[in-house]
Amino acid sequence: MFDIKEKFPDGFLWGGATAANQLEGAWDKDGKGPSIADALPGGKKRFSIASSQKFDWQLEDEQYTYPNHKGIDHYDRFKEDIKLFAEMGFKCYRFSIAWARIFPQGDEETPNEAGLEFYDQLIDECLKYDIEPVITISHYEMPLSLAKNYGGWKNRGLIKFYEHFARVVLERYHSKVHYWMTFNEINSAFHFPVMSQGLVPSNGANDFTNVVQSWHNQFVASALAVKIGHELDEQLQIGCMILYATSYAYDSNPVNQYANLKQMQDFNFFCADVQVRGEYSQSTARMLKEHNVNPALLEITDNDLELLAQNTVDYIGFSYYMSMVTDVTREDHEGVSGNLIGGVANPFLKSSDWGWQIDPKGLQIALNELYDRYQKPLFIVENGLGAIDTVAESGAIHDDYRIDYLKQHIEAMQGAITDGVDLLGYTPWGCIDLVSASTGEMSKRYGFIYVDLDDEGNGTLDRSRKDSFYWYKKVIESNGEDL
Ligand code: BG6
Repeated sequence: MFDIKEKFPDGFLWGGATAANQLEGAWDKDGKGPSIADALPGGKKRFSIASSQKFDWQLEDEQYTYPNHKGIDHYDRFKEDIKLFAEMGFKCYRFSIAWARIFPQGDEETPNEAGLEFYDQLIDECLKYDIEPVITISHYEMPLSLAKNYGGWKNRGLIKFYEHFARVVLERYHSKVHYWMTFNEINSAFHFPVMSQGLVPSNGANDFTNVVQSWHNQFVASALAVKIGHELDEQLQIGCMILYATSYAYDSNPVNQYANLKQMQDFNFFCADVQVRGEYSQSTARMLKEHNVNPALLEITDNDLELLAQNTVDYIGFSYYMSMVTDVTREDHEGVSGNLIGGVANPFLKSSDWGWQIDPKGLQIALNELYDRYQKPLFIVENGLGAIDTVAESGAIHDDYRIDYLKQHIEAMQGAITDGVDLLGYTPWGCIDLVSASTGEMSKRYGFIYVDLDDEGNGTLDRSRKDSFYWYKKVIESNGEDL
């Protein structure tokens, strides 16, 4: 009865993850409309530009570059890319469907058949190699028109547009695709509502009421996708997807411990509580009060609450890159940047080239915290090291730092499995180099596969295998034993 599990389970889903807007390119090809990602400029100032009051989703401002327009040209090279994934032995591949490829403006009745045909081929190409597709329905790429003309997710009208989109893709692919996620990193709006909610300062991003209303609308939309999926096939696995950052109090001061508890409730658990348990948690009222949100201004119907209660997710997908530290008692800390979050530096941890603090033990803690709380299968659908790679004269790319990062995180996963956690799979982020979400850079690379493209958009786009490619192949072959 009390068996200790020391190995990864048979059938563990090893793979990799990407998002359409960051690799496909072909931003206006075959009927695709522009998405919000197409309007984000490249470079380290991406977030500060999108957070300025005057930002208004320009698609081509000559002072900027727009790297998502070209991506890594996966749209035309997907066969070559999937073949390389198969060579590594991928059991699954997580990707997203570009909403604006299917509904160019977002509000059309009829889908763009050419867009669907692209995903027909992509899915079939995965299946050809026995790679299980794992689809994110919406990954930071809503049609631009829904943000510009409808005001983003704070507009309740988006629920029906998303429902229509979700229905079209679920109906078309449910017999081929068993794993789905409704929204990427839905909680990221806590700090940056641009990419997941289509909110910028000019349409209300700085008023937290709009963020909360957007979340509610997304929860309802997500529940509708779960409902549609389960009506098509009750075995379909439809998950939520959250950005998880294990959070520590800086010290044993109870004041910091309590502040950290609230940080966990608000950032890590608020969205998942609704999507997994089917109801708003008790800490919501406190969170709203602290953010000056008047609940009476929120539009939440009884029918919505019933939908949420009846259509909870089957598993929890989450990204994990780093942990955080809470200290509300001092202001003289060294700061760190991070995955849409930032804060106090943890003196026990080292940081990546981009300042994200590396914490494999934090992943083991995250897995335990999530499983203790929800008792639902977990799926790590993003993890990895964004780093600068150099190509040796021989053409080799020696990314031992990446191998080291991933190895430590896989050991932490194995530890969590021994702790009793039910873990479905692991899809490291950016398994092939792609455009960074936060900075629009190519030089921030996560891949096992190198893509010859620089931040200015120059390069042959040729693919080559890094050292980590051969290492990960071995990891998969040995089902996580040979690290
Ligand atoms: C997650 C996103 O936040 O982190 C991805 O879901 C993103 O889209 C990834 O690419 C890594 O972040 P970045 O900014 O390094 O690309």
